[in-house]
Amino acid sequence: MQPKVDLSAGLCENCHGGASHGAVIKEWDEYASPGFEMEAMLSHSEPTDVAEPSAPDNGKSCVSCKSTDGAIPNLAAPEVYNLNEDALPEPEAVKEWGITCTVCHNPHTTALRVEDEVQLCANCHNGREAEADGAPMEYFYPSWEMYSSSDFATGVHPVELTCTDCHMAQSPVDSGANGPAGPDHTFDFDPALLSDPETENGCYACHEENLASLVAERQENISGELQALGQLEVNAGEALETANGTEAYPELEKAYNNALFHIAYVENDGSLGIHNVDKAAIHLETARGLLENVTEATGTGAGEEPTEEPEGPTSEEVPGFGAAIAFAGVLGALYLGKMKTRPGKYVVCCVKMALTTETRNHKQNRNKYSFNKILLNPFFLSFWEAPPGKLVEAIFERPD
Ligand code: HEC
Ligand code: HEC
Ligand code: HEC
Ligand code: HEC
Ligand code: HEC
Repeated sequence: MQPKVDLSAGLCENCHGGASHGAVIKEWDEYASPGFEMEAMLSHSEPTDVAEPSAPDNGKSCVSCKSTDGAIPNLAAPEVYNLNEDALPEPEAVKEWGITCTVCHNPHTTALRVEDEVQLCANCHNGREAEADGAPMEYFYPSWEMYSSSDFATGVHPVELTCTDCHMAQSPVDSGANGPAGPDHTFDFDPALLSDPETENGCYACHEENLASLVAERQENISGELQALGQLEVNAGEALETANGTEAYPELEKAYNNALFHIAYVENDGSLGIHNVDKAAIHLETARGLLENVTEATGTGAGEEPTEEPEGPTSEEVPGFGAAIAFAGVLGALYLGKMKTRPGKYVVCCVKMALTTETRNHKQNRNKYSFNKILLNPFFLSFWEAPPGKLVEAIFERPD
């Protein structure tokens, strides 16, 4: 007879749940805390079969990241894009639809199942190589794709920061009744704890008390743009409807779907740009270009700005506008030389891009992006050979 296998947190709670050692279980089990709202909040302790009743019917890829039964065999082959599907149980067989202690810790040794902590998290928190392919979007959570090319991972931030550096802040050593110091198992980004000089988290040394405001400010920029895009999305959706049945419709629908993809890339990453502010900005710029193209191509509301957009400098005040036009011209000429088919369409496209760059109101930071507006226009992205990131990097001036 097989011994009964228990994958629940109760297994560890016997010892790690007492008054003196209970912090870990309590932190992890946010789902059981009184203020937990299932719709708005996430937690590793949240049972997927309760929170997302349709997930158990959606096959093995859900099992791999949303159940303990699936996560354990999944993490046996922890490469980021490998769900190890052959080894996974069928959804019907799953007993533990949450991410319990034994997902990350081997219960016999308590060691982490995957030594590389970034890989441990990234095996589940990745965007499954989703691409903007014109089809309606499927769910994906690209935290790893954002993070892995960010300043934190590539050595630009003065110290390398991993997922756990930001999401599992250490408590102060002398935290009294809360038990011994340990890494935070709520997995929340906690700027107060991270920059508490009494801890070993180390952020205080450089950021002092400013970490929370630095992060909030960056997030506000991104959420402001997301909000503005929400209005453009509505406009483009209506415009698309009016084009239904026309010859242009299939292409416009693809552009619209791709715009939603780029917006979801930023939304589903979950950090409002903190994982990679540059990359988030690029995705949002691309989405904006696509939505505007859809609206303008149908002639409904061309040139209109969403009403809540604040007044910015006019085109005359935007530095580098002339240069931007020249640049667009050069790119256009290059492109025409390369692509001999349908040149007329792209001449129109270049001129239109130049014009939309001019007439668009620029928000505080956005005037720094005038070159980007051209380079990041999806028409250019679609044929430009160099990885757009490299080009953008050279020209990109990050808003501060
Ligand atoms: C029989 C009691 C007991 C159970 C059950 C138990 N632990 Fe522990 N665990 C301990 C003790 C005691 C320590 C040492 C605490 C210390 O050093 O402060 C410890 C330490 C740990 C550590 C730290 C190891 C280190 O290197 O510092 C981890 C991680 C851990 N346990 C995870 C787990 C997990 C996950 C489970 C459930 C699968 C679990 N434990 C179940 C008693 C238990
Ligand atoms: C999503 C993955 C994950 C889950 C789930 C998880 N842990 Fe951990 N745990 C970690 C990581 C990663 C560390 C090491 C963090 C660090 O210090 O960088 C850790 C550290 C610990 C430590 C402290 C070890 C030390 O050296 O101080 C204990 C104790 C512990 N975990 C117990 C638990 C218990 C009990 C549960 C279930 C309630 C649990 N963990 C659930 C990832 C996880
Ligand atoms: C086996 C898959 C898996 C692994 C491994 C995993 N997560 Fe998660 N994580 C999830 C799922 C699924 C959710 C969403 C739960 C829900 O829907 O409520 C989640 C939610 C989260 C959240 C938001 C909710 C919260 O608890 O604050 C954060 C942050 C997070 N994970 C960070 C991490 C970090 C950091 C690691 C690595 C130490 C990690 N995760 C490892 C599957 C995983
Ligand atoms: C520089 C610090 C930092 C690093 C490094 C980092 N994150 Fe985050 N992460 C954040 C912040 C800040 C948020 C937004 C949290 C908020 O606004 O409450 C966030 C949000 C998230 C969320 C969404 C949480 C939710 O409640 O929706 C997940 C999941 C997540 N991170 C996973 C990861 C993973 C996986 C890694 C590593 C591949 C990682 N993070 C690396 C700072 C970081
Ligand atoms: C050795 C000094 C140093 C340490 C230690 C340090 N940082 Fe930083 N960090 C910086 C500098 C410098 C910047 C750039 C400041 C700016 O852009 O305003 C920065 C920027 C950031 C940003 C914004 C990044 C961006 O460009 O969007 C975040 C978030 C951040 N740090 C988080 C952390 C966290 C969390 C810790 C601790 C785990 C930490 N830092 C530790 C020096 C440090």
